[in-house]
Amino acid sequence: MSLLRLDKIISDGGIATRSEARKLITSGKVIVDGNIVTRSDLKFDTETSEISVDGDILNSTKYRYIMLNKPDGVLSATEDREQKTVLDILPPELYRMKLFPVGRLDKDTTGLLILTNDGDFCHAVTSPKRRIKKRYEFTSESALTAEDAEEFLMGITLRDGTKCLPAELEIDLADPCHGYISVFEGKYHQVKRMLASRGKPVISLKRVAIGNLVLDKALGFGEYREISENEIKQIFN
Ligand code: URA
Repeated sequence: MSLLRLDKIISDGGIATRSEARKLITSGKVIVDGNIVTRSDLKFDTETSEISVDGDILNSTKYRYIMLNKPDGVLSATEDREQKTVLDILPPELYRMKLFPVGRLDKDTTGLLILTNDGDFCHAVTSPKRRIKKRYEFTSESALTAEDAEEFLMGITLRDGTKCLPAELEIDLADPCHGYISVFEGKYHQVKRMLASRGKPVISLKRVAIGNLVLDKALGFGEYREISENEIKQIFN
């Protein structure tokens, strides 16, 4: 059991800042287990209490959806005998929720990783049929060109002959070794292999968005927060 202040629970839920949460609470818009609560300093257990803000349930006791800013050097796995996994860096109360990563990022890739215990949701996000866009920020060893962008749009053929779906390459004009790549599938080491096939190996890779869900800039590496219901919808919009 972990008790947290009501204003912190609401701001962790991603729908308001801490001060906005306090205003929502004092204005009587927050209901906990059927009762209006107007004190921000009261503490509740998010695993056992149902909290709603303006009529929207904040926490589902059944499924959890966590946005993690994955740090470098951690595996996107639930367990590993030798190496640290993304679950190892979460607090024990979340560890107990039987979360798993939605898709994988390489050990040295950072950024947006969703953790959930909802298998149907995981399938919907990762299924190649849904073609959910994943946007990555990269730096590469050499400059990208307009010709590279055209090839990405046509569908890159990887060095082993695998054909990729059309993808979007946005080149930073001020620094053409830097930019963004959006892909609509999830092949193994896909972005690294796409850039390698153009002779422009990756130096660093960070996922910044899944669908229209953008990595929260307030999260430092290794930090996480709950994803709200509205944000879940943004993934599929
Ligand atoms: N593409 C890669 O090459 N690596 C990742 O981690 C994600 C996408």
